[in-house]
Amino acid sequence: MSRENFGNRFGVLVAMAGSAVGLGNLWRFPYLVGTNGGAAFIVLYLIFVFLLCIPVMYSEFLIGRRSESNAIGAFRKLAPGSKWGIVGLLGVLCSISILAFYSVVGGWTIDYIVKAVMFKFTTTDTKVLETIFQDSVTSTYEPLLYLSIFLGLTGLVVLAGVKNGIEKYTKIMMPLLFVLVIIIAIRSITLPNAWEGLVFLFKPDFSKVTSTTIFDALGQAFFSLSLGCGCIVTYGSYVKKDENIVKTSAMTSIADTAFAIIAGLAIMPAVFAFGISPGEGPGLVFVTLPMVFAQIPFGEFLAILFFFILFIAAITSSISLLEVVVAYLNEEFKWKRVTSVLVSLALLMVLGTLCSLSQGDLADVKLLGLTFFDFFDGLSANILMPLGGLLIVVFVGWRLGRANFMDEITSSGKVKMSHWFVEFTYFSIRFIAPIVISIIMIRGLIK
Ligand code: TRP
Repeated sequence: MSRENFGNRFGVLVAMAGSAVGLGNLWRFPYLVGTNGGAAFIVLYLIFVFLLCIPVMYSEFLIGRRSESNAIGAFRKLAPGSKWGIVGLLGVLCSISILAFYSVVGGWTIDYIVKAVMFKFTTTDTKVLETIFQDSVTSTYEPLLYLSIFLGLTGLVVLAGVKNGIEKYTKIMMPLLFVLVIIIAIRSITLPNAWEGLVFLFKPDFSKVTSTTIFDALGQAFFSLSLGCGCIVTYGSYVKKDENIVKTSAMTSIADTAFAIIAGLAIMPAVFAFGISPGEGPGLVFVTLPMVFAQIPFGEFLAILFFFILFIAAITSSISLLEVVVAYLNEEFKWKRVTSVLVSLALLMVLGTLCSLSQGDLADVKLLGLTFFDFFDGLSANILMPLGGLLIVVFVGWRLGRANFMDEITSSGKVKMSHWFVEFTYFSIRFIAPIVISIIMIRGLIK
């Protein structure tokens, strides 16, 4: 079977950035920065991204590109006859687990676009806005309708293939996403009293940096860069042999971090301008922000734009997650792409329904003491992602071997790289990354 590739370098970059830029950038990063010492947190975050996460990203990339296979096939091909395929399997399970709850939130973004278009957010009363949010997510059928629309759209893009689907649509969506968020950021920082939000975001305050800050920075960097669940293996497998994977990984990380900071500029100055104290997560974007938009001239339109931003950020991430599952079914079971997409969507619709209903009707059904939604969230963030990341770096550092690593990272010598850089990266993958990821994982499990 001949495999597809991304058409060009920009296509690879937007697809990768599409995976990385997601809800994590919009509803968690700005909050974490603000509450963990502003610029001090950003510096720490950047150090982790460059010293730890980018090497992990190369590792995933390398596995994908060298094997030209889906997440599971890749390990089987590079380590035939071994049990390493399990790492790929963890990746597929992790992608399914993230998609289960992520697409429910994706559905909420569509719901909120519809509500914003109908000018539902003209009130500044928190109680009313909270009730709107609670009613929307706890009701039975409406969220399921939006969930199926969200999954259906994700499926359509993936169905169209790597070049004519993923690449084509992310090429339109990602630049649009950046433009829209910049428009909102400009509006936000030009509001009277925006200053306080900027202080919240950027004033370096090292006294707020504690051990929790360090873990938060690392965990967030890992999640935000979509590491550890086979997505980058899968996208990497569609990247041409002469592409510089170091550069692509660095640019993806820079785009992701830049987006997170611009999201902070779009959100925090506006929140502070109206004397509201910011939170994180769904509360921030679905309750606090509508209240802010209601007070800004032409805020009705900004609200529509904002929920559209959330939607694009969410769907480009979901596309990359679905591709992990579809590529696996397609290549390992030799199913047609359409069959693979339909089967994955059917499974996800079931899991997504459980997650959606766990906000309301099924709130009392618990797995290990957690609702379905929190279960899939916790399973992926605390177990599958770090475990996948750990095994991936161990695989590249200790199993794949130095010669393969050197050959792949330099595209068989076609890409020139400084000796110390390659050595440092290899060292990080063999020693620093496994130790640090183990520590995060153990702490996550204890929590
Ligand atoms: N990076 C995405 C975000 O910031 C979420 C995410 C985590 C993800 N792991 C992923 C997306 C794997 C795609 C693939 O919201």
